[in-house]
Order: sequence, then structure tokens, then C-alpha cells
Amino acid sequence: MSEPHKPAGTLASVMHEERMFPPPRDFSSRARIGSLEEYGRLYDAARKDPEAFWGERAAALPWTTPYERVLDWQPPHVRWFVGGRLNVSAACLDRHLAAGKGEKTALVWVGEPLGERRTLTYRELHAEVCRVAAGLRRLGIRPGEVVSIYMPMTPELVIAMLACARIGAVHSVIFGGFSSEAIADRNHDARAVAVITADGGWRRGAQLPLKKNVDVALEKSPTVKHVVVLRRTGQPVDMKPGRDVWWHDLVDGMPADTPPEAMDSEAPLFILYTSGSTGKPKGIQHTSAGYVLWAQTTAEWVFDLRDDDLFWCTADCGWITGHSYVTYGPLAAGASILIYEGAPNAPHEGRFWQIVEEERPTIFYTAPTAIRSFMKWGPEHLRGRDLSSLRLLGTVGEGINPEAWMWYHETIGGGRCPIVDTWWQTETGGIMMSPLPGCTPTKPGSCTLPLPGVVPEIVDAHGKPVPRGEGGWLVMTRPWPGMLRGVWGDEERFVDTYWSKVPGKYLAGDNARQDGDGYYWIMGRIDDVLNVAGHRLSTIEIESALVSHPTVAEAAAVGRPHEVKGEAVAVFVTLRGGEPGPALEETLRKHVRQQIGALAVPDDIHFAAALPKTRSGKIMRRLLRDIAAGRETVGDTTTLEDYTVLANLRGNDE
Ligand code: PRX
Repeated sequence: MSEPHKPAGTLASVMHEERMFPPPRDFSSRARIGSLEEYGRLYDAARKDPEAFWGERAAALPWTTPYERVLDWQPPHVRWFVGGRLNVSAACLDRHLAAGKGEKTALVWVGEPLGERRTLTYRELHAEVCRVAAGLRRLGIRPGEVVSIYMPMTPELVIAMLACARIGAVHSVIFGGFSSEAIADRNHDARAVAVITADGGWRRGAQLPLKKNVDVALEKSPTVKHVVVLRRTGQPVDMKPGRDVWWHDLVDGMPADTPPEAMDSEAPLFILYTSGSTGKPKGIQHTSAGYVLWAQTTAEWVFDLRDDDLFWCTADCGWITGHSYVTYGPLAAGASILIYEGAPNAPHEGRFWQIVEEERPTIFYTAPTAIRSFMKWGPEHLRGRDLSSLRLLGTVGEGINPEAWMWYHETIGGGRCPIVDTWWQTETGGIMMSPLPGCTPTKPGSCTLPLPGVVPEIVDAHGKPVPRGEGGWLVMTRPWPGMLRGVWGDEERFVDTYWSKVPGKYLAGDNARQDGDGYYWIMGRIDDVLNVAGHRLSTIEIESALVSHPTVAEAAAVGRPHEVKGEAVAVFVTLRGGEPGPALEETLRKHVRQQIGALAVPDDIHFAAALPKTRSGKIMRRLLRDIAAGRETVGDTTTLEDYTVLANLRGNDE
């Protein structure tokens, strides 16, 4: 791995994957984009004349006021479809009703407890969204105000997002695994006026205390005036009169045809908090027209959506993947989506394949970490399962190792399904680089080629393109409709993080390399961001959580390779109180869970007398990464302030 903030210019790629898989002929013959020539034509058209290209595609959106200009690009600020007005929920619902698709299944939902299942047609989904939208309006929520959503993966989560969109409120979905501290931080940063939650949610047979977490968060969230509570598990909750209202009471008697608010193309649709290289998560801001067009178009291209598809994206709506490929992309495309509420191993490790057999999805999109879990759980959970409905597989969130790719291809895809390895980010709003399943030959481990409208470059620290085959920083040289418009309330951080190191270009934060065929290979982050089970975590966030505990003097968090999660969190702490040992380890784990959430809990805790630092006081993470990974320490350690520190750390490890 390269040192933070230095491009991997001299880093030889460790991947030597030579295998190439052409798309199956019968897939190509029916695909939306069936040949590389067609892809090339689209790519060139988008590059040569983006305004004409995107203008043509935006024509099908339900504009209430036509836009005056397709693109206004004043780096780093962009406006797409300037002056136009529309409503994103109308783009996802009303236009399909108008097109006579009201009776088409919009959503199939499978609950974690066995036997629970619901379906909603587009007409029913529209009606539910309208009722909630009317209820939210009645609470006094205005366009532009922020509503936090902290819910389990139920149809109501999708409904809540679309209801916010319908009234022009900006949603901020907070993953159900985050702690009350994390909810409070996000409520505070966004100045949220309301929270939509549930009594609880099912996770591996246990009930998550969602409402209780919200109650604790609200002690520190003075801006929040209303809480809407879905009854999901039936567990007892406290309802605060005047503030809390049950979902079923809110929608009772509300009309099923609430008119949508006409929003400016550039009005924020949502914010989604993600980790960066500081201790404070940033609210990535997406807009209305450009975002929904990008989500829809990329869903159609990459997943080759057809009218009879049932699309299963396993992501939770707490992450960007759930925004773009559970909710907005497929629904804007008028597709049928499958949602599963729970864990892949509840109540047994073959649950996903049982769902495939019973619900017969045609497209399956998941994360490499999940694939590695399935491999580990063993083939017996798949034996006898009918997976023949699947025609296309996808991955997202981190690079997929060739071994997992091959397993996915053979065991889940039966050797017949193309795999799309999709590279993108919270910030990009939708997929940026991916094979197109009907035309791009795939290489296990590569996200292959950019989509039309995406113009990447790999550059060195001076912003100069590096020769083919060499690693460097991945940047985007042209704006695309789905790109982030800002960091909520923090223009400086927006400019600084994404636009200052390579002026005028979007810095993705990943190292990458292009091979001789022009294929892109992602080589990991350039900053202190970890990718644990496909989720972004900032090392500094974990460190801040640790040092907020009274026993901890200093902390350093690093990633180490992990068989299933890709990366695991290893922390090194020095103490100012307490006794190093299993009891304190447990206490610190609990503390991090409380501060951030279960996903940030360190896998390894190393107690140390001191942390290795350079003369300027910077923690030597490279060294710690090597120690955490059990590798022999290599490279230059002459800048270590104190050699004994290194020896001590090693000693503790042995
Ligand atoms: O490092 C890249 C990795 O995940 C980061 C984005 O994380 P997040 O914003 O949480 O979004 C995840 C879901 C889109 C990227 O900067 N990443 C994502 N997809 C891939 C990937 N790395 C390699 N290959 C991928 N397909």
C-alpha cells in the first residue's frame, strides 16, 4: 500500500490477472448495449458534446418547467439542467402511472423473520408515498428542510425517502447500525427538523433498539421537532407527546394523490454522511435532476434493465448503493426491485439462496465482502438451490479478488452470468466505471472501462498524466450529472478535499492504474480512509472515539488485510489509566460501538508504551500497518523518534 497523500507512481501492480471473459453471445444479442462499437459510439458522443448527449436523455424526465441550459460548469461548481423544475418522486412514480404501468410490481419485500413478505405495485407505492408526504407536510415540514431517516430495510424506508423528495424536503438517511452519538452528530450538522424511525428492526433474530437510540440522540438534537415512528417489531417504546407520532397515525386519512412539489433541478435531494480523512463525517450533497438522471441511466446501462427483470441490490438504504440502486435508479427506470430486510445468515447461512429460489430475481448486486462470507460458509448452503433465474451479477464497494470473482462466476452465476464490477463512490452518485454486461469483456479484479460521460485520468502529484501501466491518483476531468454538489455547510472542505490537489479536476481519493487494454484497476485509497466490509471508515474517526475514553492517552488506527472484510481495524493505544488486558479491550470496543457504531469496532487492540512517530510528531502509520498485518517491518525507519518504541511494539506482539 502506498503512503497516504503520495500517488502510487512507483508502485508496481500486484495484480497479474490475465484471464478475460467475453460476454455470452445470447446475453449480448438481447442487451441494451450489445457491442463495443456501440459503447464506443455512446462514449464518444458523450465526450464530444455532453450537452446534446445529456439533453437527449433528460427529455424523458417529467419536467414541470423546462430547463434553459443543460450545463453550466464553473469548476468546482456545476449546474445541470439550469432553470428546470421537476420532482424526483414523480420521476420515480407518477410518470410510470401515466405510462400505464401502475399495476407493475414496483417492490417485493422479504422480512428477516421467515414467511414475512409484501409486494407493492407502482400504484400502491405511489399512494403510500403520497400519504406520508401529506403527513409530513401537515407536520409543517417545508421544502429545503432536512429530515433524518433511521430505519430498518422495510418498504417504509424507501417510502420515507420518496415522501421527502415529494415535498422537497432533503433526506439524510442514517444507517441503522450507527449509534445514538452518530445520529446526534448528523442531526446537528444537517440541522434536521424531523427524524423518521421505527420502534426497532430485525437483525439476526435480535431487535435493534432504533427508537431508543433516537431518543438518546434527541437529547443533543435541539433542531428536531418531530419524530415519526413506524411500528415494525412491536417492541415497547416511549412516545413523547407533542414530538413523537406513530407512522400509522400520521398517514391515517391522508390523500393518495398528494401533488409533488416542483423543485429546481439543482435543489438538494439528499445528503448522505460519509467518512473522509478527518474525524468528522461529511454530508455529501446530491441534487435533483442530474442525480436521478445519472442513477437511472447508469442502472439501465450497467444492469441492462428490462421490463421483466427483478433487480436485487442487497445494499441497505443507509449507504449510497441503497440510494442509487435500491431506490432512485431502478424506480426511475420503472423496474421491479427486491428488498430483503435482514442478515444473509438469518436464520441460516443459505438465506440469500433461498430468497433467490423463491423470489426468482434476475439481477443480483452485492459486495465482495458478502461473497467472501458465502465462500467461507461453504457450498452446502447452496446445494440443491435453484439459482437459474439469475442472468446478471454485480459487485460494489471494494475491489473483488480474482478468487472471489471466479467463485461468484461459477457457483452463483453457473458460468453463464456476466459480472459487472462497478467502481463508484458516495460522491459520484452512481456508477462511474464498470463493464457493460452485453459488450465488455471482463477481467477478474478490474472495473474495466468508464461509462459514457465519465472521463478519468491517472495523474502524478503534479497533476500530470502518468504513462499506461503506472499507478497514480484517479481524477475525473469532466463533470457528470450525478456528481456531488458540495459538502453540506462546508464549502472549504469540499474544495479542499476534492478540487485542490489537482486543480480543476475531481480527486476521487483512490490510486489506480490502466493496463495495456485501457482497463482500470483500483489500487486502494490515497488517504486515511479504511474500507471495512465495503464501508468507509476514517482512521481519525476511530482514533477520536478512542481518545474520548478516559483511560486512553493516544490512539492510532490502521487497516490490516482480512479474509472476509477486506480490511479489519487494528488500533494501537497508549494509556493514561487502566490496566492493559482483555477487560479494558472489551471496554474500549464497547466505547467505540457507542461512539460510532458496530461497524467501527476494532478487531485488534494493541496496547503500547508509546506510538512510533517521526521527528515532526506524525504517527508512522506505515510501520503500524506492517505490525498489524504481522509483516516484517520494511523500509526506512530512520525518522523514528525513538527506536525503542518500535522494539516495544514488536515485543508486545510476539
Ligand atoms: O476505494 C473505492 C472503493 O470504495 C470507495 C467508495 O466508498 P463509498 O463512498 O462508501 O461507496 C461505496 C459504494 C459505491 C472508493 O473510493 N470502491 C468502491 N467500489 C469499488 C471500490 N474499489 C475497487 N473496486 C470497486 N468496484
